[in-house]
Amino acid sequence: MKFPKDFLWSGAISASQAEGAWDVGGKGMSIADIRAYNSKLDRKNVTNSFDLTKEKFQSIINNQDEYYFPKRYGIDFYHTYREDLKLLAEMGLKMFRTSIAWTRIFPTGKEMVPNEAGLKFYEDLFLYCKEIGLKVMATINHLEMPITFVMEGGWSNKEMIDHFVRYSNVVVEKLHKYVDYWIPFNEINHIDFDCTGVLKDAPNYIEKSYQAFHNQFVACAKVQKFAKSLNKKIMMGTMVGHMLTYYATCNPNDVIQNHKESQMSIYFFYDILLKGFYPNYSKSFFKKNKINLDIDQLELELIKNNTLDFISFSYYSSGVVGENTITTSGNIKKSGINKYLVANEWGWQSDPIGLRVALNDLSDRYNIPIFISENGYAAVEQINEKHTVVDDYRINYLEQHFEQMALAIEDGVNLMGHALWGPIDIVSFTSQEMSKRYGLIYVDLNDLGEGSAKRYKKKSYNWYKKYIKQNTGG
Ligand code: BG6
Repeated sequence: MKFPKDFLWSGAISASQAEGAWDVGGKGMSIADIRAYNSKLDRKNVTNSFDLTKEKFQSIINNQDEYYFPKRYGIDFYHTYREDLKLLAEMGLKMFRTSIAWTRIFPTGKEMVPNEAGLKFYEDLFLYCKEIGLKVMATINHLEMPITFVMEGGWSNKEMIDHFVRYSNVVVEKLHKYVDYWIPFNEINHIDFDCTGVLKDAPNYIEKSYQAFHNQFVACAKVQKFAKSLNKKIMMGTMVGHMLTYYATCNPNDVIQNHKESQMSIYFFYDILLKGFYPNYSKSFFKKNKINLDIDQLELELIKNNTLDFISFSYYSSGVVGENTITTSGNIKKSGINKYLVANEWGWQSDPIGLRVALNDLSDRYNIPIFISENGYAAVEQINEKHTVVDDYRINYLEQHFEQMALAIEDGVNLMGHALWGPIDIVSFTSQEMSKRYGLIYVDLNDLGEGSAKRYKKKSYNWYKKYIKQNTGG
């Protein structure tokens, strides 16, 4: 047996990519609800970066009829979660990860009293997970926020901390009896509107983005403090988009460039959330780039005294960094093409061994339990005449990543589990396409939300079920 019997085989989605029902049950508008589908999309050039300016933002808000916003409709999981979760539990999942939509609980983010209908939805959803034997991992903020905050500077505005903490405390208090693991912020390391709510043309954009991160670190510490005061056993973890990069050549210039980029794009976030202080390299980075943050002593103490309990990260692909590299897309950021790897249609280069590298690295560095909170393979797919999809490429991707996870466990990594990203097809975060499918279950909807919405098992569905049965229990 390659995996221990309590290994958390999981599946993960986010509220904004799956639920739909964007204006049902008192829900307010979130920034995910204004991400428009673009039929002329250049797939190889999509990144997580949403360069939204003030003018563009206002124009989208004023001309909503001109666009189709796929995340408003998702796969209608809000209404179909029972059937969907039943299929996932039958596939063998032990845990389900989803996020809570802030705007279902506080529609504009500024209310003092939560929307009971929103709380009831998540209470029913999590209770249902328990009924069918699924543990729950809940993300409090998955790349969305109430739209109200955009014109106020998003997370660069310190008032966000109180608004977020009010929201988080409500959901943690109300739902902690059903939730096994919490993640305060999904992929906290995006310098991007979706994560920070900072508009691209805001003066001192980079400084504001780092101020936003600082404010999120403080918010995280406050949420952790509140959770532990409720129950010491509540477990909160990091979630970093682990865009692994190698140096392009053994030219020392490439080595140091990759080292420096990784410090600020990945380790900065783990270090602060897990070690509880700003590392020296970040202070030097801020000095060099004339970034002055508004940080006070009390906040630093909060961060120091309320570090998180476990590591989680998303992992899809890797890239290279160095002089003379040709760039390709990937999760979080673009990086260089690696001639030893093969990319998918969006230019994301699959790298199973890179997962073992990342696991070993994080284990050596922090020595606490690790959970892979997202991993998966996207492809454009059509259902065939037998009502299935023969997705051997996904089976290969998953099998190779699972093999590397097993090797990492042998290496001594304390690996808690693995979550398939989008085990059922959902709307893509970066490209807004329904055709960017990760699922082991096919959902019959196209990019414009047209179709029967019926669910069909792909070939990988039965493969996964068999694989985890045969390899778990050691
Ligand atoms: C991560 C996000 O960035 O990657 C998910 O946490 C997202 O929300 C996933 O869906 C894959 O990205 P995409 O654009 O392929 O959906």
